[in-house]
Amino acid sequence: MADALALSQAKHQVPDDFDEVAGSYDRLVGMNPGYHRHLRLSAERLELQPQERVLDLCCGTGASTRALLKVQPEIELIGLDASAGMLARARAKPDLAGVRFVEGNAMDPAASGVQGPFAAISMAYGIRNVPDPDLCLTRLRSLLAPGGRICFHEYSVADSWRAKLIWNFVCFGIIIPGGLLTSPRSGIYRYLRRSVNAFDGVKAFEARLREHGFVNVRTERMDGWQRGIVHSFLAEAPG
Ligand SMILES: C[S@@+](CC[C@H](N)C(=O)[O-])C[C@H]1O[C@@H](n2cnc3c(N)ncnc32)[C@H](O)[C@@H]1O
Repeated sequence: MADALALSQAKHQVPDDFDEVAGSYDRLVGMNPGYHRHLRLSAERLELQPQERVLDLCCGTGASTRALLKVQPEIELIGLDASAGMLARARAKPDLAGVRFVEGNAMDPAASGVQGPFAAISMAYGIRNVPDPDLCLTRLRSLLAPGGRICFHEYSVADSWRAKLIWNFVCFGIIIPGGLLTSPRSGIYRYLRRSVNAFDGVKAFEARLREHGFVNVRTERMDGWQRGIVHSFLAEAPG
């Protein structure tokens, strides 16, 4: 109970924590085999079409943004993130020059002037971090056009002892020591381990999406060590 409260308070702090690690973030995720390929897989699963309006929520330094553009270069793309430091890195990337980057809270994109409707929304490693996922899902559904698609690219280990074991092994053996080397003062990588352990299992998150009125809810897997750990949670707004 005390741990759940501490985690919920930590979520308000997450964008500031990302400001601190923005300078080393790309290097660290670059060492994670499959990180970029898996973002592209989730982007492909959104079946983006030319000229569609697409929102990349919690875009960070632009890794997920780049994946979306790689699979469909002819989209109108907005990236939103609450960390000015992460956004500065995204804005500095020449291949992302055509993207409109907005500093704002994924809990309420409209408050930062990001208005729907969107044909597709991608949220990679975001929904786990927002303080109130239910309110966030309600708002995201209203940002989607009728029939619009959404993909949550996210860790989820609660349904599988194997996934939990591998996840905690990788955290203690690689992610937390790597984070300590690159950003010694940051607690973000310890938070990452705890927040993934506490996040919905696959079935619970699918049920949560259905409760919020999403249809055609389904989950697709990754390969490599992330198999059964990272997922594309796909859904649509009713047509
Ligand atoms: C793990 S990074 C993921 C970045 C990118 N999507 C990727 O795949 O590499 C999570 C990002 O979510 C952002 N974030 C966390 N909570 C947020 C919130 N409430 N609103 C907007 N951005 C948030 C952080 O600032 C950070 O840049």
